[in-house]
Amino acid sequence: MPSQRGSERRRQRGVLLAGVAVLLLALVLAAVLASALTRGKEEARPEPLRWQGRGTTRNLREIVLGRCYGYLAERRAELGDKDCLKIWESLKDAFIHKNPCSATTEDYRPLMELASHPISCNKSLFWSKTNDLVHLYTKSSHRFLTLEDTFLGYMLNGISWCGDPSAPGINYESCPKWSECESNPGSVFWKMASKMFAEAACGVVQVMLNGSIETGAFRSSSIFGSIEILNLNPDKVSEIHIWVMHNIGGPQSESCSGYSIKKLKNILEERNFKITCEDNYRPVQLLQCVHNPDHPDCSLCTNSTEAP
Ligand code: APR
Repeated sequence: MPSQRGSERRRQRGVLLAGVAVLLLALVLAAVLASALTRGKEEARPEPLRWQGRGTTRNLREIVLGRCYGYLAERRAELGDKDCLKIWESLKDAFIHKNPCSATTEDYRPLMELASHPISCNKSLFWSKTNDLVHLYTKSSHRFLTLEDTFLGYMLNGISWCGDPSAPGINYESCPKWSECESNPGSVFWKMASKMFAEAACGVVQVMLNGSIETGAFRSSSIFGSIEILNLNPDKVSEIHIWVMHNIGGPQSESCSGYSIKKLKNILEERNFKITCEDNYRPVQLLQCVHNPDHPDCSLCTNSTEAP
């Protein structure tokens, strides 16, 4: 009897060991299969196209929605009803899954229509090479409005975005620079927005140029020179005031009598606009003086008003 019980126990132990071995083998096989499948997937996902510019800004959706709701919270009275979710969807549809060198104005038309709003006469302020100063001024005075202060410009200012033919359809690693291809999403969007901003201008308009850059305050290849001045409507715009600003302490590379400003005046006069030009428009110069209070240009008494 004892030998019968012993062989029974050996049989049970054998079955148990075989079971454990089968289970282990199954586990190993499952792990090998899972790793092969994941590797297969990684290999199958193609790399996004590579460009020289910075990639799509991370959290683009949240940033655009946040700016949209933020702007509306402050100015809904002027803008009327705007649907931020629709605006985001129309921006996304304009570029997602597309080759970023094939952007078209048609891609951005729905977005422009959803976000456009009227701009009061005498408010439009154009600029070239004075990005920081002009926006320091519009933020502090609210007298004028640049494209970047409009609803559309505000939502996308300083942001980069582009699509990619492969999943997930947005390239977060790189986007084409303006020099890599002309029809990239940023360039198509900003040129179109600039054109609309210029077409909408009426009454007296202003432009702030930089008289401290060596290449000249006015460049006909800039967005201002190649798009905005050509789309101002002489039937709606009565006067154009040019402000040539110099850095406090110089250099004073060009003033209102300079070569490129003369060229700008000629272009505008040929289109029947009335022009004035002022060097260092004082309200803006006073803002520059916040950082240079002791400089002679910032003295509150100029030579002519000083007591003898
Ligand atoms: N590459 C990259 N960015 C560019 C380029 C370019 N070649 N050209 C213009 N930009 C973008 C940049 O974001 C830059 O800060 O336009 C901005 C302004 O460029 P500037 O050379 O300083 O000026 P300009 O080309 O005349 O554009 C300014 O366009 O933004 C509108 O209404 C606004 O009047 C303003 C004008």
